[in-house]
Amino acid sequence: MTDRKLVMITGSTSGLGFELAKLFANDGYDVAMSGSSETIYQSAEEIEELGVEAYPFQADASTYDGVEAFWQFVKNKGRNLDAAVLNVGIGMGGSFLENDLQEELKLIDINVSGTVHMAKRVVQHMVPNQAGDIMIVSSVSATLPTPYETVYGPSKAFGFMFAEALREELKETGVNVTAMLPGATNTSFHHNAGMDSTYFGDENNKNDKELVAKQGYEALKNKVDQVVGGDEATKKEAEENKRTAEDVLAAKHAEKAKPQQ
Ligand SMILES: NC(=O)c1ccc[n+]([C@@H]2O[C@H](COP(=O)([O-])OP(=O)(O)OC[C@H]3O[C@@H](n4cnc5c(N)ncnc54)[C@H](OP(=O)(O)O)[C@@H]3O)[C@@H](O)[C@H]2O)c1
Repeated sequence: MTDRKLVMITGSTSGLGFELAKLFANDGYDVAMSGSSETIYQSAEEIEELGVEAYPFQADASTYDGVEAFWQFVKNKGRNLDAAVLNVGIGMGGSFLENDLQEELKLIDINVSGTVHMAKRVVQHMVPNQAGDIMIVSSVSATLPTPYETVYGPSKAFGFMFAEALREELKETGVNVTAMLPGATNTSFHHNAGMDSTYFGDENNKNDKELVAKQGYEALKNKVDQVVGGDEATKKEAEENKRTAEDVLAAKHAEKAKPQQ
């Protein structure tokens, strides 16, 4: 048996999930990692170079069976789960009129249904132990309407309010819930969402993924309810969103997210 703590991080092949895996590993956590591609095994090897155990699992987080299989894989380690980062999420640019319905429903399956499914398993594991830290990765997109990412923003608003609600319900149990709201960040996210031709396709307009992950990690460790990930301008934007009318915010976001011809 090991004295090390255990964290599970969904969607940790690359991007923010992988950055978070490095931070937990540097703090001495073993890391259970999931992704849909075979690259998850290589990513796990990189985490093991930091001196901990990494447990990679390849599964599709858009299906019930894929989510459940990763949970069973973690549970079968027979250890207490000390932290869970519900990070996996996909984006989708383009117009609602033209976008493919099946792709939009897949986004909801991953970002919403998958988050609820994994949270259920994690909460029911952690509460009897009276300890645990849960991070739900939302987005600054949760704080405004997101035209040309019409379904994505609301999926992240779900994660934000879900995290805050769960935190309140669990406050006497010893289990902490923190929502992380990154601003635009330099991972493959916008490319994967088909948004290369937008404002968000330009790397200069994005936050550093190491900084964003670090801010999220520290917020979780300090057990705060929410943190905006990014530079001062990103934090200011998230604050201003609270005081700005939705139609104004929608028009501003449309300018940034509308595909250029
Ligand atoms: N980057 C941003 O600007 C930004 C801003 C705000 C919020 N966020 C949120 O941050 C989270 C992480 O995003 P990211 O920027 O790190 O994105 P990313 O670079 O695209 O990484 C996505 C991660 O999820 C995994 N993944 C994708 N589809 C999957 C599936 N069907 N099943 C299992 N794993 C899957 C990928 O691994 P595989 O390649 O192995 O599938 C990868 O590890 C998301 O929830 C996103 O909404 C990102």
